[in-house]
Amino acid sequence: MEAQRESWGSKTGFILAAAGSAIGLGNIWKFPYIAGENGGASFVIVYLICIAVIGFPVLIAEILIGRSTQRNPVGAFFKLSGSKFWAGVGGMGIVGGFLILSFYAIIAGWSIGYIVEAIDGNFFNFVEETASAQHFLNLVGNVYWILGYFIFFMMLTTVIVFAGVKKGIERGSKIMMPILFFLLIILMIRGITLNGAEKGLEFLWNPDWSKINANTILIALGHAFFTLSLGMGAMLTYGSYMSKKDNIISSAFQIVFLDTIIALIAGIAIFTAVFATGLNPQAGPGLIFHTLPSVFIKMPGGYFFSILFFILLTLAALTSSISLLEVVVSYFVDERKWKRHHAAIVLAFFITLLGVPSALSYNVLSDFTIAGKNFFDLVDFIASNILLPLGGLLISVFVAWKWGFKKVLPNLREGAENLFEKYPWVISFWKIFLKYFSPILIFLVFLNSIGILDKIIELFF
Ligand code: TRP
Repeated sequence: MEAQRESWGSKTGFILAAAGSAIGLGNIWKFPYIAGENGGASFVIVYLICIAVIGFPVLIAEILIGRSTQRNPVGAFFKLSGSKFWAGVGGMGIVGGFLILSFYAIIAGWSIGYIVEAIDGNFFNFVEETASAQHFLNLVGNVYWILGYFIFFMMLTTVIVFAGVKKGIERGSKIMMPILFFLLIILMIRGITLNGAEKGLEFLWNPDWSKINANTILIALGHAFFTLSLGMGAMLTYGSYMSKKDNIISSAFQIVFLDTIIALIAGIAIFTAVFATGLNPQAGPGLIFHTLPSVFIKMPGGYFFSILFFILLTLAALTSSISLLEVVVSYFVDERKWKRHHAAIVLAFFITLLGVPSALSYNVLSDFTIAGKNFFDLVDFIASNILLPLGGLLISVFVAWKWGFKKVLPNLREGAENLFEKYPWVISFWKIFLKYFSPILIFLVFLNSIGILDKIIELFF
């Protein structure tokens, strides 16, 4: 007899865990800087549209595949299609989890390292932005610093996944998510009450449409995927622990809502502070680690708020990293019959090993490049720009075209009978978006990511 499969304790537990997966470095580290680089408000509007018309429908599709099959990504696709090809699409997700976690945990490690810097009051030694940027480079240039915090963060992730779905992931999310909301709201209030905060708010609310072009739309769409943890079966796996009594559509809506609101609040907290201290909003990936430390030291209570900020960032990263490890673990537990404890430790170990060259690409391996990219950027590129969009594309095609709405809709209806009766148009929209919009738009993102789109456009126009 098969062992009883794990499940969530409650619908709220699932929503918090899934929102925890979605809310991560993507919201607090990445979203503010790409919004800053791409025109502020106008980018935010494009991003919101992408979330609504592509992110939300694909999220429903992923959760549905998981809940209908109660399997990991490989098992789920195989169960529904009986085909090796589609099982391979699930396999791409497992590989994606492996790759993404190997570099995600490195950045999360920086965040832990920065909690320590903040507590030490070290930011006060670097008044100029250039000095704090240099300090960052010195830290990541130190092999022991970068590997130490990376390994430590991987251990935290492992402990939670080791403890299981209900006792580890759900309980961890139920503790960490409220703390995260609370800290972020304090930071937002601090930001808004700074002298000169209006300029930051203006930047977020006043659109600059001249900055919007095909490329920014694709960046927004790509980010909509990343921030909702779509395209590699993370939401599928979390959905597989969900009860058939729960409403997938309303759950997905709440996840999207939480993820979006957190990204916006993070944007407000960061840009009010950056503008009030007269620093550059377009610092790119360095915004958090280069610019923010010099923002904190210039504002009242900065010592305290800098500590809170990096605790917040670490918690957000942790509730995401556990979802990445869980995808890989669920495959080995379901399909290879490994014990969860064994799987969590062994797989985390191999993911850490894979992360070592990425960590070293900030120091000893910095000259080592493949196709013009260092190891870290290469892994990031393969995962975020190839595997995720391709996965998202295939997931929409699978649900809309292969599995087929005739079989899909009765499954989706379970737990959502009310919604089906009262708002049938929601379902109609979902079908249209998933069948036509998502595949086409994601395909464009994909071509753009691998750098083919420019050439095609040149060819025709
Ligand atoms: N969504 C997370 C963030 O915004 C990152 C993440 C977690 C993720 N799991 C994922 C991204 C799966 C893509 C796929 O930081």
